[in-house]
Amino acid sequence: MKILITGGAGFIGSHVVRLFVNTYKDYHIYNLDSLTYAGNLENLKDIEHASNYTFIKGDITDESFINNIFKTHCFDSVIHLAAESHVDRSIADPLAFVKTNVIGTMILLNAFKDCWHSNFDNKLFYHVSTDEVYGSLGEQGLFTETTSYDPNSPYSASKASSDHFVRAYGETYSVPYVITNCSNNYGQNQFPEKLIPLFINNILKGKELPVYGDGNYTRDWLYVVDHAKAIDLVFHKGKISETYNIGGFNEWKNIDLVKLLCKLMDKKLGNPHGSSIGLIAYVKDRPGHDLRYAIDANKIKNELGWQPSVTFEEGLSNTIDWYLDNTEWLNRVTSGEYQLYYQKQYN
Ligand code: NAD
Ligand code: TYD
Repeated sequence: MKILITGGAGFIGSHVVRLFVNTYKDYHIYNLDSLTYAGNLENLKDIEHASNYTFIKGDITDESFINNIFKTHCFDSVIHLAAESHVDRSIADPLAFVKTNVIGTMILLNAFKDCWHSNFDNKLFYHVSTDEVYGSLGEQGLFTETTSYDPNSPYSASKASSDHFVRAYGETYSVPYVITNCSNNYGQNQFPEKLIPLFINNILKGKELPVYGDGNYTRDWLYVVDHAKAIDLVFHKGKISETYNIGGFNEWKNIDLVKLLCKLMDKKLGNPHGSSIGLIAYVKDRPGHDLRYAIDANKIKNELGWQPSVTFEEGLSNTIDWYLDNTEWLNRVTSGEYQLYYQKQYN
């Protein structure tokens, strides 16, 4: 089986590529990535020479390029992760999100459809999406697979749009698809623009920890390795045309999470208790900031037998250890463009 994984040099994509390359020796995994600021082939050093792995550098918005690679390889399945993925960047440059997340997804859908001429036996288009498409919850309630879409940020609006196009291609052209909507991921190789790795990096550098608003925003956190395992399971066992929510059963208010992170970092760095908490700075809120995301992941749990394999404390501890062991990676990805981004976003 030839599987195209898009965005495989990014955070979640690299974990999915590694899992598939190591587990399924009889599949050939093609990783297509344009290597934006968020894509990094260093994330895949351990498998780059595997005989069942090929990297293709390319942009999903380049229609003729995408059509050509589908003509050459005729992939049996696509696992689509390539995206612009950071809410703050989507507020600064929404159009970039429409281009990659909406148009790029459509170009892939078209190429996949045209390649198989409606003969879709054993074929699959797997679209990886986010819980942010459901909008914001109040203090109570959970997102289920039937919650109405109500996106609030340009990022979530672009992902919602791409989800709609995937479903439309299923209905209109019988493209076999599954969609998963996952909560906030954390773990090794996450680009330090997202909350957890940004704050780990700032603690290491003795910089302020910029908590948006009053910090009373809630997210449901899932360890990236468990997300990759869920994708593997849905890819092989999920029902065609279905959506599955994936979450960690693990809600945290931002400020409580940040305090836990500070405590763990102080312990690991041998700093006096309470040193990192002193770096917390409450800063201007994010416009349109969603109050709370929380996933009901019982469908994937009950129907497919998936559940998170590590506790949050274990996952967070592993994550911090990885960043402490990989300060060169961290320093490389935070030089150059990152400095400009940081200036614009936080100063
Ligand atoms: P990421 O930003 O770390 O990686 C995205 C990857 O896509 C990068 O390697 C980048 O180079 C590549 N890419 C971007 N634009 C491209 C283009 N036009 N053509 C080809 N490649 C391109 O993102 P992530 O956090 O790993 O997220 C992966 C997917 O999972 C996204 O679709 C995102 O919406 C979804 N998701 C993420 C989270 C999360 O917490 N990070 C949660 C739920 C769902
Ligand atoms: P983030 O990691 O950007 O993920 P998302 O916006 O997709 O949930 O942010 C997680 C939460 O942390 C969110 O409520 C915004 C907040 N946050 C801060 O308070 N400060 C920051 O510098 C960042 C990046 C996020």
